[in-house]
Amino acid sequence: MQAEQGVIDRARYPKHIAIIMDGNGRWAQQRHLPRVMGHPAGVKAVKRVVEFCAEQKIQVLTLFAFSSENWRRPKEEVSKLMGLFMATMQKEVNRLDKNNIRLRFIGERGEFSDKLQQKMLESERQTENNTGLTLVIAANYGGHRDLTLAMQSIAKQVKAGHLSPEDINESMIANALSIPDLPDPDLFIRTGGEKRISNFLLWQLAYAEFHFTEKLWPDFNAQTMQEAIDDFLTRERRFGRTSEQVKNMRAAS
Ligand code: IPE
Ligand code: IPE
Ligand code: MG
Repeated sequence: MQAEQGVIDRARYPKHIAIIMDGNGRWAQQRHLPRVMGHPAGVKAVKRVVEFCAEQKIQVLTLFAFSSENWRRPKEEVSKLMGLFMATMQKEVNRLDKNNIRLRFIGERGEFSDKLQQKMLESERQTENNTGLTLVIAANYGGHRDLTLAMQSIAKQVKAGHLSPEDINESMIANALSIPDLPDPDLFIRTGGEKRISNFLLWQLAYAEFHFTEKLWPDFNAQTMQEAIDDFLTRERRFGRTSEQVKNMRAAS
């Protein structure tokens, strides 16, 4: 019975987990270190969580690494973060590739240095045929910007006479956004205690289950990930239906 329950739970595991990795600065400050020291510690947590998701056969993990608003931080912190992205990619991409992980980036990469853009492209190409976990890194990403660009591309089709405004539908909008080929996140996690979405995947998170934890990102590990998944498994996803309808559908399947 226990084993059977395990199989059932596994089928209900989230296919796509999206995380706002927050609390690096506070983690460092608690240790009387400069805030920027929290970011390398955050990279270690990324490695633990990626390994966990690959082992657990999660399909997609999306990590918010740098928001379109994070340019407002002190210059020194921004430049430390850019250096850390580059160094981490140089060190880790081969290992990700060996582990059959596909790497993708969302966000406006044109504002990054040429070298960093080149490395992003190379690592996407190097891992594009991998069939295990898809790791999506949101870098210079903003949900408003994502939606704005989608609106612009649809407006161009209307202007060109290929589309009439009445024919614009939800799936067209979804397809004009980042990562249209991936399922929407089932589970959204934010570490660091804040309960906000900070301009992350606004459209795609419409029906995600939200898990907030006080844990600071550098303290995140396999156990805290499992806790988030266990919390997710207690939720009843109704998508607008009644609880009774959901139970009947489950019994019939
Ligand atoms: C998240 O941690 C990392 C990035 C935004 C790049 P923070 O740096 O926001 O950490 P806190 O929230 O200030 O503690
Ligand atoms: C959100 O964290 C962005 C990332 C984790 C990359 P922030 O720490 O920047 O969010 P706010 O500013 O507190 O909302
Ligand atoms: Mg923060």
